[in-house]
Amino acid sequence: MQVFETVLSLQNYFKTEFNGKSIAFIPTMGALHQGHLSLIKRAKNENDIVVVSIFVNPTQFNNANDLKNYPRNLDKDLKLLERNNCDLVFTPSVSEIYPDENSKKSTYNFGKIVEVMEGKFRPGHFDGVANVVSRLFKIIKPDNAYFGQKDFQQYILIKTLADKYLSDLNIQVHRCPIIREEDGLAMSSRNVLLSPEQRKSAALISQTLFWAKDNYQKYTVDELKKQITNKINADKYLKIEYIEFVSDPELNEITNWGLEQKIVACIAVQVGDVRLIDNIYLS
Ligand code: PAJ
Repeated sequence: MQVFETVLSLQNYFKTEFNGKSIAFIPTMGALHQGHLSLIKRAKNENDIVVVSIFVNPTQFNNANDLKNYPRNLDKDLKLLERNNCDLVFTPSVSEIYPDENSKKSTYNFGKIVEVMEGKFRPGHFDGVANVVSRLFKIIKPDNAYFGQKDFQQYILIKTLADKYLSDLNIQVHRCPIIREEDGLAMSSRNVLLSPEQRKSAALISQTLFWAKDNYQKYTVDELKKQITNKINADKYLKIEYIEFVSDPELNEITNWGLEQKIVACIAVQVGDVRLIDNIYLS
Protein backbone atom coordinates (compact mmCIF):
# COMPACT_ATOMS: atom_id res chain seq x y z
CA MET A 1 0.00 0.00 0.00
CA GLN A 2 1.33 3.42 -0.98
CA VAL A 3 0.59 6.63 0.95
CA PHE A 4 0.78 10.06 -0.72
CA GLU A 5 0.43 13.50 0.81
CA THR A 6 0.74 15.67 -2.29
CA VAL A 7 -1.21 15.87 -5.54
CA LEU A 8 1.99 15.87 -7.57
CA SER A 9 3.46 12.71 -6.01
CA LEU A 10 0.12 10.92 -6.35
CA GLN A 11 -0.31 11.87 -10.00
CA ASN A 12 3.28 10.97 -10.89
CA TYR A 13 2.79 7.52 -9.39
CA PHE A 14 -0.51 7.12 -11.26
CA LYS A 15 1.13 7.92 -14.60
CA THR A 16 3.74 5.22 -14.25
CA GLU A 17 1.80 2.49 -12.43
CA PHE A 18 -1.87 2.49 -13.34
CA ASN A 19 -2.08 2.73 -17.10
CA GLY A 20 -5.18 0.90 -18.34
CA LYS A 21 -6.28 -0.33 -14.91
CA SER A 22 -9.72 0.41 -13.49
CA ILE A 23 -9.54 2.76 -10.53
CA ALA A 24 -12.00 2.96 -7.64
CA PHE A 25 -12.11 5.91 -5.29
CA ILE A 26 -13.53 6.19 -1.78
CA PRO A 27 -13.31 9.60 -0.16
CA THR A 28 -13.38 9.57 3.67
CA MET A 29 -12.65 11.79 6.63
CA GLY A 30 -10.86 8.96 8.46
CA ALA A 31 -11.65 7.44 11.87
CA LEU A 32 -12.47 4.42 9.77
CA HIS A 33 -14.99 1.75 10.75
CA GLN A 34 -16.77 -1.23 9.18
CA GLY A 35 -19.01 1.11 7.17
CA HIS A 36 -15.98 2.52 5.35
CA LEU A 37 -14.47 -0.95 4.99
CA SER A 38 -17.64 -2.25 3.32
CA LEU A 39 -17.17 0.37 0.60
CA ILE A 40 -13.54 -0.71 0.14
CA LYS A 41 -14.51 -4.38 -0.11
CA ARG A 42 -17.09 -3.69 -2.80
CA ALA A 43 -14.68 -1.39 -4.66
CA LYS A 44 -11.93 -4.02 -4.58
CA ASN A 45 -14.33 -6.61 -6.01
CA GLU A 46 -15.23 -4.38 -8.94
CA ASN A 47 -11.90 -2.68 -9.77
CA ASP A 48 -8.16 -3.27 -10.19
CA ILE A 49 -7.00 -0.46 -7.91
CA VAL A 50 -8.62 1.03 -4.79
CA VAL A 51 -7.75 4.58 -3.78
CA VAL A 52 -8.94 5.95 -0.40
CA SER A 53 -8.56 9.56 0.66
CA ILE A 54 -8.46 10.66 4.29
CA PHE A 55 -9.13 14.36 4.61
CA VAL A 56 -11.11 16.10 7.34
CA ASN A 57 -12.54 18.78 5.12
CA PRO A 58 -12.86 22.02 7.12
CA THR A 59 -15.20 23.71 4.64
CA GLN A 60 -18.04 21.25 5.19
CA PHE A 61 -18.21 21.81 8.96
CA ASN A 62 -20.76 24.44 9.86
CA ASN A 63 -19.88 24.08 13.55
CA ALA A 64 -16.35 24.91 14.74
CA ASN A 65 -16.58 22.57 17.73
CA ASP A 66 -17.64 19.66 15.53
CA LEU A 67 -14.51 20.20 13.41
CA LYS A 68 -12.28 20.51 16.49
CA ASN A 69 -13.70 17.34 18.08
CA TYR A 70 -13.86 15.25 14.91
CA PRO A 71 -12.00 11.98 15.69
CA ARG A 72 -8.61 11.63 13.99
CA ASN A 73 -6.39 8.55 14.10
CA LEU A 74 -4.23 8.27 11.00
CA ASP A 75 -1.94 5.46 12.23
CA LYS A 76 -4.85 3.21 13.09
CA ASP A 77 -6.59 4.09 9.80
CA LEU A 78 -3.52 3.22 7.73
CA LYS A 79 -3.18 -0.16 9.46
CA LEU A 80 -6.84 -0.92 8.80
CA LEU A 81 -6.52 0.09 5.14
CA GLU A 82 -3.40 -2.04 4.69
CA ARG A 83 -5.21 -5.05 6.14
CA ASN A 84 -8.22 -4.44 3.88
CA ASN A 85 -6.38 -4.49 0.56
CA CYS A 86 -6.40 -0.78 -0.13
CA ASP A 87 -3.79 0.02 -2.80
CA LEU A 88 -3.25 3.72 -2.37
CA VAL A 89 -4.07 6.28 0.31
CA PHE A 90 -4.18 10.02 -0.26
CA THR A 91 -3.74 12.07 2.94
CA PRO A 92 -3.44 15.68 1.79
CA SER A 93 -3.00 18.72 4.02
CA VAL A 94 -5.57 21.52 3.95
CA SER A 95 -3.24 23.73 1.86
CA GLU A 96 -2.76 20.91 -0.66
CA ILE A 97 -6.52 20.78 -1.32
CA TYR A 98 -7.12 24.51 -0.86
CA PRO A 99 -4.04 26.42 -2.08
CA ASP A 100 -5.88 29.75 -1.82
CA GLU A 101 -9.16 31.24 -0.55
CA ASN A 102 -10.77 31.09 -3.99
CA SER A 103 -10.34 27.34 -4.17
CA LYS A 104 -12.62 26.98 -1.11
CA LYS A 105 -15.59 28.43 -2.95
CA SER A 106 -18.16 26.15 -4.54
CA THR A 107 -19.73 27.31 -7.79
CA TYR A 108 -22.39 24.64 -8.20
CA ASN A 109 -26.11 25.20 -8.00
CA PHE A 110 -27.92 22.11 -6.74
CA GLY A 111 -31.29 23.76 -6.04
CA LYS A 112 -33.65 21.71 -3.93
CA ILE A 113 -31.13 18.95 -3.13
CA VAL A 114 -29.28 21.33 -0.81
CA GLU A 115 -32.31 23.14 0.56
CA VAL A 116 -33.88 20.33 2.60
CA MET A 117 -32.79 18.24 5.60
CA GLU A 118 -28.97 18.36 5.97
CA GLY A 119 -28.84 21.32 3.57
CA LYS A 120 -31.38 23.25 5.62
CA PHE A 121 -29.96 22.44 9.05
CA ARG A 122 -26.26 22.66 8.14
CA PRO A 123 -25.90 25.83 6.06
CA GLY A 124 -22.93 25.64 3.69
CA HIS A 125 -22.29 21.97 4.47
CA PHE A 126 -23.09 20.65 0.99
CA ASP A 127 -21.16 23.45 -0.74
CA GLY A 128 -18.14 22.18 1.19
CA VAL A 129 -18.85 18.53 0.35
CA ALA A 130 -19.46 19.18 -3.37
CA ASN A 131 -16.35 21.32 -3.64
CA VAL A 132 -13.99 18.88 -1.93
CA VAL A 133 -15.34 15.82 -3.76
CA SER A 134 -15.11 17.71 -7.05
CA ARG A 135 -11.47 18.62 -6.30
CA LEU A 136 -10.67 15.03 -5.33
CA PHE A 137 -12.44 13.61 -8.40
CA LYS A 138 -10.39 15.92 -10.65
CA ILE A 139 -7.14 14.88 -8.93
CA ILE A 140 -7.78 11.13 -8.93
CA LYS A 141 -10.00 10.74 -12.02
CA PRO A 142 -11.41 7.37 -10.94
CA ASP A 143 -13.62 5.13 -13.06
CA ASN A 144 -15.87 4.32 -10.10
CA ALA A 145 -16.57 6.08 -6.81
CA TYR A 146 -18.32 4.54 -3.80
CA PHE A 147 -20.54 6.27 -1.24
CA GLY A 148 -22.69 5.07 1.65
CA GLN A 149 -26.48 5.20 1.88
CA LYS A 150 -25.83 6.30 5.48
CA ASP A 151 -25.40 9.78 3.99
CA PHE A 152 -28.31 9.39 1.58
CA GLN A 153 -28.62 13.08 0.69
CA GLN A 154 -24.85 13.34 0.18
CA TYR A 155 -24.99 10.40 -2.25
CA ILE A 156 -27.76 12.14 -4.25
CA LEU A 157 -25.66 15.32 -4.30
CA ILE A 158 -22.51 13.54 -5.51
CA LYS A 159 -24.40 11.55 -8.13
CA THR A 160 -25.79 14.83 -9.47
CA LEU A 161 -22.33 16.42 -9.30
CA ALA A 162 -20.77 13.59 -11.33
CA ASP A 163 -23.58 13.28 -13.89
CA LYS A 164 -24.43 16.95 -14.38
CA TYR A 165 -21.32 19.02 -13.64
CA LEU A 166 -18.39 16.62 -14.09
CA SER A 167 -19.76 14.42 -16.86
CA ASP A 168 -16.52 14.81 -18.86
CA LEU A 169 -14.70 12.82 -16.14
CA ASN A 170 -17.10 9.93 -16.74
CA ILE A 171 -17.16 8.71 -13.12
CA GLN A 172 -19.74 6.09 -12.13
CA VAL A 173 -21.03 6.85 -8.63
CA HIS A 174 -22.20 3.81 -6.65
CA ARG A 175 -24.12 3.56 -3.42
CA CYS A 176 -23.56 0.95 -0.70
CA PRO A 177 -25.92 -0.12 2.12
CA ILE A 178 -25.77 1.21 5.68
CA ILE A 179 -23.62 -0.88 8.02
CA ARG A 180 -24.97 -1.01 11.57
CA GLU A 181 -23.77 -1.97 15.04
CA GLU A 182 -25.40 -5.01 16.66
CA ASP A 183 -28.07 -2.89 18.35
CA GLY A 184 -28.90 -1.17 15.07
CA LEU A 185 -26.99 2.10 15.49
CA ALA A 186 -25.65 3.20 12.10
CA MET A 187 -21.86 3.13 12.22
CA SER A 188 -20.36 6.59 12.24
CA SER A 189 -16.96 8.07 13.04
CA ARG A 190 -18.72 10.32 15.55
CA ASN A 191 -20.05 7.35 17.60
CA VAL A 192 -16.75 7.18 19.52
CA LEU A 193 -17.54 10.62 20.94
CA LEU A 194 -20.62 9.30 22.79
CA SER A 195 -20.48 8.56 26.53
CA PRO A 196 -21.53 4.99 27.47
CA GLU A 197 -25.01 6.27 28.49
CA GLN A 198 -25.41 8.30 25.30
CA ARG A 199 -24.22 5.33 23.23
CA LYS A 200 -26.91 3.15 24.78
CA SER A 201 -29.62 5.74 24.11
CA ALA A 202 -28.42 6.30 20.54
CA ALA A 203 -29.67 2.81 19.60
CA LEU A 204 -33.19 4.23 19.91
CA ILE A 205 -32.63 6.24 16.72
CA SER A 206 -32.44 3.23 14.40
CA GLN A 207 -34.89 1.22 16.50
CA THR A 208 -37.45 3.99 15.99
CA LEU A 209 -36.81 3.93 12.24
CA PHE A 210 -37.24 0.13 12.17
CA TRP A 211 -40.54 0.59 14.04
CA ALA A 212 -41.61 3.27 11.53
CA LYS A 213 -40.90 0.93 8.60
CA ASP A 214 -43.18 -1.72 10.11
CA ASN A 215 -45.98 0.66 11.10
CA TYR A 216 -46.03 3.69 8.82
CA GLN A 217 -49.21 2.79 6.98
CA LYS A 218 -51.22 2.93 10.22
CA TYR A 219 -50.57 6.67 10.46
CA THR A 220 -50.77 9.81 8.37
CA VAL A 221 -47.47 11.48 7.53
CA ASP A 222 -47.94 14.09 10.25
CA GLU A 223 -49.00 11.53 12.85
CA LEU A 224 -45.96 9.38 12.10
CA LYS A 225 -43.65 12.38 12.45
CA LYS A 226 -45.23 13.09 15.84
CA GLN A 227 -44.90 9.46 16.96
CA ILE A 228 -41.23 9.35 15.99
CA THR A 229 -40.50 12.72 17.58
CA ASN A 230 -42.13 11.65 20.85
CA LYS A 231 -40.29 8.33 20.95
CA ILE A 232 -36.89 9.99 20.40
CA ASN A 233 -37.44 12.96 22.70
CA ALA A 234 -38.69 10.70 25.51
CA ASP A 235 -35.06 9.67 26.03
CA LYS A 236 -33.22 12.22 28.14
CA TYR A 237 -30.03 12.02 26.05
CA LEU A 238 -31.72 12.48 22.66
CA LYS A 239 -33.18 15.54 20.94
CA ILE A 240 -34.62 15.22 17.46
CA GLU A 241 -33.63 17.87 14.93
CA TYR A 242 -35.77 16.69 12.03
CA ILE A 243 -37.64 13.68 10.68
CA GLU A 244 -38.52 13.89 6.99
CA PHE A 245 -40.01 11.48 4.48
CA VAL A 246 -38.69 12.02 0.95
CA SER A 247 -38.66 10.27 -2.40
CA ASP A 248 -35.54 8.60 -3.76
CA PRO A 249 -33.87 10.03 -5.82
CA GLU A 250 -35.78 13.32 -6.18
CA LEU A 251 -35.89 14.23 -2.47
CA ASN A 252 -39.51 15.35 -2.88
CA GLU A 253 -41.31 15.78 0.42
CA ILE A 254 -43.85 13.00 0.93
CA THR A 255 -47.23 14.21 2.12
CA ASN A 256 -49.20 11.05 1.38
CA TRP A 257 -48.19 7.37 1.47
CA GLY A 258 -48.55 5.28 -1.64
CA LEU A 259 -47.91 7.79 -4.39
CA GLU A 260 -44.14 7.39 -4.45
CA GLN A 261 -42.32 4.13 -5.12
CA LYS A 262 -39.32 4.67 -2.91
CA ILE A 263 -39.84 6.56 0.32
CA VAL A 264 -36.89 7.23 2.63
CA ALA A 265 -37.36 8.32 6.24
CA CYS A 266 -34.44 10.58 7.20
CA ILE A 267 -33.64 11.62 10.74
CA ALA A 268 -31.13 13.84 12.53
CA VAL A 269 -30.73 13.64 16.29
CA GLN A 270 -28.60 15.58 18.70
CA VAL A 271 -27.05 13.28 21.34
CA GLY A 272 -25.42 15.71 23.77
CA ASP A 273 -22.88 17.56 21.61
CA VAL A 274 -22.84 14.85 18.96
CA ARG A 275 -25.14 15.07 15.96
CA LEU A 276 -26.11 11.77 14.32
CA ILE A 277 -28.08 11.04 11.14
CA ASP A 278 -29.73 7.86 9.90
CA ASN A 279 -32.33 6.80 7.34
CA ILE A 280 -34.41 3.84 6.25
CA TYR A 281 -36.53 2.86 3.27
CA LEU A 282 -40.20 2.73 4.25
CA SER A 283 -41.15 1.33 0.86
P1 PAJ B 1 -17.13 10.00 6.02
O1 PAJ B 1 -18.16 10.38 7.03
O2 PAJ B 1 -15.79 9.56 6.49
O3 PAJ B 1 -17.75 8.87 5.12
C1 PAJ B 1 -17.05 8.35 4.01
C2 PAJ B 1 -17.98 7.42 3.27
O4 PAJ B 1 -18.35 6.32 4.11
C3 PAJ B 1 -19.31 8.11 2.86
O5 PAJ B 1 -19.66 7.72 1.56
C4 PAJ B 1 -20.29 7.59 3.89
O6 PAJ B 1 -21.63 7.57 3.44
C5 PAJ B 1 -19.76 6.17 4.10
N1 PAJ B 1 -20.25 5.64 5.38
C6 PAJ B 1 -20.14 6.21 6.60
N2 PAJ B 1 -20.77 5.45 7.54
C7 PAJ B 1 -21.29 4.38 6.88
C8 PAJ B 1 -22.06 3.23 7.28
N3 PAJ B 1 -22.43 3.05 8.55
N4 PAJ B 1 -22.42 2.35 6.34
C9 PAJ B 1 -22.06 2.53 5.04
N5 PAJ B 1 -21.34 3.57 4.59
C10 PAJ B 1 -20.96 4.50 5.50
O7 PAJ B 1 -18.93 11.37 4.08
C11 PAJ B 1 -17.84 11.87 4.28
O8 PAJ B 1 -16.86 11.24 5.03
C12 PAJ B 1 -17.42 13.20 3.70
O9 PAJ B 1 -18.54 14.03 3.59
C13 PAJ B 1 -16.70 13.10 2.33
C14 PAJ B 1 -17.60 12.45 1.27
C15 PAJ B 1 -15.40 12.29 2.48
C16 PAJ B 1 -16.32 14.51 1.83
O10 PAJ B 1 -15.48 15.16 2.72
